[in-house]
Amino acid sequence: MTGRFVTFEGSEGCGKTTQIRLAAASLAERGIPVFETAEPGGTPLGRRIREILLNRGSCTIGAEAELLLFAAARAQHVREIILPALKEGTLILCDRFADATVAYQGFGRGLDADFIRILNAFSALSLKPDMTLLFDLPVATGLARAQKRAAGGQPETAEDRFEHEDYDFHERIRKGYLTLAAGEPDRFRIIDGAADVETVHREVCRCLAELS
Ligand code: TMP
Repeated sequence: MTGRFVTFEGSEGCGKTTQIRLAAASLAERGIPVFETAEPGGTPLGRRIREILLNRGSCTIGAEAELLLFAAARAQHVREIILPALKEGTLILCDRFADATVAYQGFGRGLDADFIRILNAFSALSLKPDMTLLFDLPVATGLARAQKRAAGGQPETAEDRFEHEDYDFHERIRKGYLTLAAGEPDRFRIIDGAADVETVHREVCRCLAELS
């Protein structure tokens, strides 16, 4: 039995992390074996890389090094967690994956798109999501949400290196995601991330039902 691999993507403050938790909880309630994970993270190595990448005070990281660190976290995540779980028939819900690298390091930082495509395939061991839910919303709305969360004061929700980037950077990310979605309409589902949590959750459930 092979499981399914679903990724949740979107620009800052799009609500995907809340939605992944709600979706995992409602699937588990219905007895569906589900596993929730995130990038960068998901493994001990991934969590250490996440700390380096997201902590604004940690050290200077150039765009090339940033790209390779995300790729390293992904390679370990796929090998150690995702592929074994898929083999067991689990439905995996992953908070960001390779599309984030195209959107952020490609469209956002301006790194070479062809190289990113090759690196993504290498680091994902050629694994592609069965379905990708893109939570789309205006940049200003998302950034306002992210700033509100950061003002909440929890260290893990403090404004990170990416949220601190300028407005145009985030516009490029949004455009990048929409470009990716337009190029692979069979894989992507675009969900209105500006809608209220309950409405978005219903839409997520409707999309996930297509997998069964
Ligand atoms: P999160 O805030 O959704 O947990 O994601 C962490 C940050 O890392 C977010 O700002 C997006 C960024 N990111 C990239 O720039 N490239 C990637 O490949 C991934 C997975 C995340």
